Amino acid sequence: MKKKDYNDLFVPTYKRTDAPFISGKGSYLFDSDNKKYLDFGSGIAVNALGHAHPVLKKTIKEQGELLLHSSNLYFNKPQIDLAEKLIKNSFAQKVFFCNSGTEANEAAIKFARKKAISISEDKYHVLSFYDGFHGRTYGALSATAQEKFHQGFLPILDGFHYVKLNDIEATEQILKKYSFAAVFIEPLQGEGGINSTDTSFLKFLRNYTAENSIALVFDEIQCGMGRTGTLWNYQQHKVIPDMMTLAKPLGGGLPLGAVLCKKEFSDSITPGDHGTTFGGNPVSCALGSRLLSIIKEKAFLKEVRQKGNYLKKKLSALQSLYPVIESIRGSGLLLGVRFTQDPQPLIPLCKENGLILIKANHNTIRFIPPLTVKLNEIDKAVSIFTKSLKHLYS
Ligand SMILES: Cc1ncc(COP(=O)(O)O)c(C=O)c1O
Repeated sequence: MKKKDYNDLFVPTYKRTDAPFISGKGSYLFDSDNKKYLDFGSGIAVNALGHAHPVLKKTIKEQGELLLHSSNLYFNKPQIDLAEKLIKNSFAQKVFFCNSGTEANEAAIKFARKKAISISEDKYHVLSFYDGFHGRTYGALSATAQEKFHQGFLPILDGFHYVKLNDIEATEQILKKYSFAAVFIEPLQGEGGINSTDTSFLKFLRNYTAENSIALVFDEIQCGMGRTGTLWNYQQHKVIPDMMTLAKPLGGGLPLGAVLCKKEFSDSITPGDHGTTFGGNPVSCALGSRLLSIIKEKAFLKEVRQKGNYLKKKLSALQSLYPVIESIRGSGLLLGVRFTQDPQPLIPLCKENGLILIKANHNTIRFIPPLTVKLNEIDKAVSIFTKSLKHLYS
């Protein structure tokens, strides 16, 4: 029988061909043909506790029976609990909830501009870094310094500028040229190819932005919430931002984004300046609250670091065997294998062999398993990856 092509149904924003997924358990996904896959993509760094985690299953049931939605005209209890927990466990004094990463960055742009414009009308410029990724809506897209995402959608917004990551001299030059409201940076770039930021660069940004009343915004949508082995990636650099944007794992698999900020960046916002119907939804927040309680534990984070080191070591061993591997990148369980050529054929081959991996920019394949992944699952993933490498590159 001819397989149905579901692409007939959808605007083709994604290239999808295979059977749809039906269920998941732990680090595994199952499709409609009942084929089993090790999920080392975690729904693009979302499923931090794997699939069907018992605590999250219980939470969704309990909260589902209580309240699904009440709007932001009123408080809801899970939203208050999660905001308190986020504040208690970070630098922030205030929280804004929305539904996604791109929305979190949109809000942060608006918060930064509102404060900066009160200082001077021309203080609206935003700086970000090449290979960064901040989202697809126009503000966040304008902050995303990758031309391929702009193509076909120009003009992007006025006042957005880009510079090379880790280049202090070039960054200082551009910062002096315009009047900036905000600097957006991913402390560890994900989509752009798993690119690390130097601590000295973040320290330079911190000093410069503080001296010039510019908001320093860390986009930890992908690298935050335990993914790199500390609750927040900024803790590894000991550099505190003014605002931090979160999403992906925050809602335990349901849509939830957030801006965490210092009080001074919420002081210029008044009711009506910004809003969202669904942001801070009770079910997403109840899930986020339970998830955060699990992830923030020292023992949990230590295990993420140990498993990350274990996986990185295994991937590094492959580098000496396969010259097509240029470097192994990243930290914790946000790792990348960069190739000397486009590794795209590896992705469907690994999937066929039962392993899900996701591509990133610059010929890089991301390894972003659930933070709850087991060592024997890492062994199995590396063995499937090796078998597929051997098939293509021996
Ligand atoms: C660092 C970073 N920022 C922002 C986004 C956008 O998030 P969303 O897809 O939820 O809008 C992403 C998504 O990949 C991301 O990795």
